[in-house]
Amino acid sequence: MLLRRELVLTAVLGALLAACGVEEAPMEEAPPAWPEIAGYELMVVPADNPMTEAKVALGKQLYYDKRLSGDGERSCYGCHLQEHGLTDGRATALGAFDRQLTRAAPTMWNVGYYDALYWDGRSTALEKQVLGAWGGGNMGASGNDGAPSMEDICAQLNEISGYAEQFEAIFGGPATPENVGYAVAAFMRTIVTTTENSRFIAFMAGDETALNEQETRGWTVFSEKAKCTNCHDGRLLADKQFHNVGIGMDAEEPDTGRARVTEADEDTGAFKTPSLFDISKSAPYFHDGSVATLEEAVDLMLSGGKPNEWLDEKNLEDAKNADLSEEERADLLAFLQALDVEYTIEEPTLP
Ligand code: HEC
Ligand code: HEC
Repeated sequence: MLLRRELVLTAVLGALLAACGVEEAPMEEAPPAWPEIAGYELMVVPADNPMTEAKVALGKQLYYDKRLSGDGERSCYGCHLQEHGLTDGRATALGAFDRQLTRAAPTMWNVGYYDALYWDGRSTALEKQVLGAWGGGNMGASGNDGAPSMEDICAQLNEISGYAEQFEAIFGGPATPENVGYAVAAFMRTIVTTTENSRFIAFMAGDETALNEQETRGWTVFSEKAKCTNCHDGRLLADKQFHNVGIGMDAEEPDTGRARVTEADEDTGAFKTPSLFDISKSAPYFHDGSVATLEEAVDLMLSGGKPNEWLDEKNLEDAKNADLSEEERADLLAFLQALDVEYTIEEPTLP
């Protein structure tokens, strides 16, 4: 997807230059055109981890490689699958060594645009998040109870010449947990909804034909009548904030979400507004996977969320009072389905 766009750009540029009688510039000089959300703020890339094609390619291999996990059976991609909208299709994830985790896997679309990661926002940089997922329950490279540590796994990666050579060329040294974090983070910054793969982004960028009539009516319900955009806002369909909509609050020991990080009472049961890209494929829904279908999830939001002491009633008021007709509800669902992302994954060849 990415390479294709670069090639097209290079070809156009080449043709133009040729037409002017100028010789084509060598490819190295053209800065890579990384995918971006049209009309949105630029992604912030940390100064110490610049994007390069070689690093992104290495990060992609590592992201797909089961040899990274503590039990040898899980890759990052294994819980963030295309057929499930870059989630795992489970209510809550099943981590390495078949350890049942407590939260649902969120989509990977546009993760590079967030400054707070996870449902509770506890991680503030992708580079660090990779190490959390890798050494923690998801991938299980903890170094505890007989499981290999991240350092142990790096030692194994360094035995594979195809990896050792890439680390040497990119980082000037062998694989280390830190370098793996940098490479995988760089790759994740390329998982972006663009005018090419997302009809919604094309629509927002001014192509009114990108959504059909029903989907356009659904967008009006979403943005003007029910004001889902109070939280699912802008090009990301997410405001980067945390809200309590009441999910899981009736559990015996509720997951307090954002309050775990801030220790502020008002953040109790607040979770990061999820992006709704690929939403039709990412059932079951919510941070605890407690809702099976998109229809039920939407009806829950339209009912104003689940009552509890910390419910964000203010932002849910318009949804609660929207009183949609059957037709409007169908339009809203059609709009949500139009948020599917159309793309083909080219799985990397592993060294
Ligand atoms: C066993 C399944 C599983 C595996 C394997 C896994 N993840 Fe995840 N991922 C999850 C779950 C569950 C969450 C949400 C956890 C939370 O919010 O507490 C998550 C969250 C994330 C997020 C945050 C997204 C957001 O919107 O905040 C990123 C980024 C991510 N994972 C990347 C990775 C990377 C990189 C790897 C490999 C090193 C990986 N994942 C491996 C299940 C998995
Ligand atoms: C108060 C802010 C807010 C408003 C308004 C709001 N949402 Fe949400 N929405 C959230 C949050 C936060 C979550 C995640 C809650 C959780 O898992 O605990 C969520 C989850 C969802 C999900 C499930 C996503 C997933 O990945 O599991 C869907 C679908 C959804 N909302 C659709 C809507 C629709 C449609 C509307 C308008 C009728 C709406 N929302 C209005 C904040 C909001």
